[in-house]
Amino acid sequence: MTGSNGNTAVSDQPILPKPEGLEGVVAASTALSHVFGEEGKLVYRGYDIHELAGHATFEEVAYLLWNGRLPNRQELDALLQTLGAQRPLPSHVIDVIQALPDTAQPMDALRTGVSALGAIDSEHFDDVPDLNEAIALTAKFPGILAAFFRHRQGLDPVNPKPGHTTAQSYLHQLFGKEPDEKHWRPLEVYLTLLADHGMNASTFTSRVIASTGSDLCSAITGAIGALKGPLHGGAPSKVLDMLEAIGAADNVDPWLTNALDRGERLMGFGHRVYKAEDPRAEILRGMAAEASTPEFFALSRRTEERALAMLHERKPDRRLYTNVEFYSAAVLSAVGLPGDMFTPTFAVSRVTGWTSHVLEQVANNRLIRPQSEFVGATDKTFVAIERR
Ligand code: ACO
Repeated sequence: MTGSNGNTAVSDQPILPKPEGLEGVVAASTALSHVFGEEGKLVYRGYDIHELAGHATFEEVAYLLWNGRLPNRQELDALLQTLGAQRPLPSHVIDVIQALPDTAQPMDALRTGVSALGAIDSEHFDDVPDLNEAIALTAKFPGILAAFFRHRQGLDPVNPKPGHTTAQSYLHQLFGKEPDEKHWRPLEVYLTLLADHGMNASTFTSRVIASTGSDLCSAITGAIGALKGPLHGGAPSKVLDMLEAIGAADNVDPWLTNALDRGERLMGFGHRVYKAEDPRAEILRGMAAEASTPEFFALSRRTEERALAMLHERKPDRRLYTNVEFYSAAVLSAVGLPGDMFTPTFAVSRVTGWTSHVLEQVANNRLIRPQSEFVGATDKTFVAIERR
């Protein structure tokens, strides 16, 4: 139909087909990272993840995502210095975190802490997200989590130490002692692996919020909420629960069979985009072999092998493989973290990706506002209840 202005009239019906869960829909252009699902390959700004993991520091990866290229020595030192200077939390944010019950979930504490930061430091975190804000927010994630982690044990927060990297500062603020290299090194590699991952649910959330012209803390608060769900970043503690419930090699087959017979999903397997092994799972498996105890690694390996075999047998056309969350559980346990700190630790890394996506979105913004297919009624008549 052509209107009087010569434009084609837009129908009230959706213009495009509606794939469930937006599967396969391209929602934005990005130069940040890409998941090659068929090949099982992940690229950050042109670098295959294998080029970076174990070679680049987390801060180099953060710089790469934010700026589009790797830093030189001076630029890296300057970033480390800025992160260090930005780590301390405003005292009001600590007060808010300490007002939470010690039964709160750490992801809820993180979401609350970031939201409080936006409200309390609103002059710094104003309406237009920029790189300085991205760095300041990233710097504060370890402190927010550590303040809550200690609060629930009745302990005071630990002041961050200048000169610490993100991995070192996180462990130092959590446990109140100089971190051991055998802990901060694997944590550092973990952080580089999780920094960005295409148009995943939490990243999409951050871009939607940023596209409305909202501020950085609002965008990242929303992203934390999306990451928390077990179909996204909330799986690794459930992997640990599963492995603990299995307990011993003899129990692997009956436990997995029962879970699948009940229609349950096996945590740490399957992915919306990867139709081959997640490359991060492969790297984390190698790290888990070194970092975790031989018993725990053997149980993880046996569970993985049997789960893959059963999934392939039961869902032969689904191409289900190990995802990043499965061996995250072994690596983060070996680093000394309890299960409920796994997803928050994922967020310590992913905040670099989220903030990079927010900056990319606002640099070339158009409000993200899709349509829905309306399946409701349209012809009901209002009948007033009897007024008192
Ligand atoms: N265990 C058992 N069956 C599975 C699993 C699994 N882990 N994953 C997918 N399937 C099955 C589904 O039951 C479905 O079968 P059906 O079509 O016969 O009913 C089929 O495979 C396809 O599943 P979908 O839900 O369509 O796949 P989707 O792309 O939506 O899901 C997801 C991906 C959510 C990750 C899914 O594989 C899952 O729930 N995995 C377990 C949770 C998990 O590990 N989450 C972390 C993901 S990684 C991350 O976000 C960082």
